[in-house]
Amino acid sequence: MKSVIVTGHTGGLGSLLTQKYKERDWCTFGASRSNGYDFVDPTVAQNFCEQLRGYDVLINTITGIGQRNVFEKMYHEWYSKQKVIVNIGSRATQYHMSPSLYYGADKAALDYLVNSVQVTGPKWPAVLHIRPGYFDSKRSEHKPNPKMKTEDVADIIMWMVDSVDKFRVLDMVISI
Ligand SMILES: NC(=O)c1ccc[n+]([C@@H]2O[C@H](COP(=O)([O-])OP(=O)(O)OC[C@H]3O[C@@H](n4cnc5c(N)ncnc54)[C@H](OP(=O)(O)O)[C@@H]3O)[C@@H](O)[C@H]2O)c1
Repeated sequence: MKSVIVTGHTGGLGSLLTQKYKERDWCTFGASRSNGYDFVDPTVAQNFCEQLRGYDVLINTITGIGQRNVFEKMYHEWYSKQKVIVNIGSRATQYHMSPSLYYGADKAALDYLVNSVQVTGPKWPAVLHIRPGYFDSKRSEHKPNPKMKTEDVADIIMWMVDSVDKFRVLDMVISI
């Protein structure tokens, strides 16, 4: 696998993943609102997934309906194809850890979608899921909680992708 799409590529986790895959000489495509992709709009997500269907891996680091839009559209594009999708969920679905109730609800909706396709879908695309607790990106800098290093979270995600022919990480919670 040599090409990867990273949504949220300007964020803490997304920018680090983009950099690390570039260091491995993978072809990378990053997308965020800052370069014209607001995935809250399902048409933007649809066009994006159609154009990038030739890539091998999607790492979906955004949140909310935009994250689910990208996941649903790319899952459809890659149905029964040997591709890999990694969605970044949150430990916030286990208990209320965000000031916004919607955040936890959005991530719970993502869990539901991921679990559903893992159970009912074909072997490919591989749909992997990780639910971190706090890590040290800008999003969480105002939080007093102990935090993992973003680099460790990125390394685990890359290991999940690398291991996909041996096993599938269906749902992993990580925390400090
Ligand atoms: N940081 C933590 O402690 C923590 C803990 C648990 C889970 N997570 C999850 O881990 C993932 C990465 O977190 P992070 O801290 O790296 O996030 P972040 O730094 O806040 O970055 C979010 C990224 O998403 C992009 N984005 C936001 N809304 C978008 C939209 N509608 N369409 C397209 N792009 C959009 C942002 O760029 P633009 O503003 O340019 O669009 C940015 O690149 C997220 O799914 C988050 O929920 C984080």
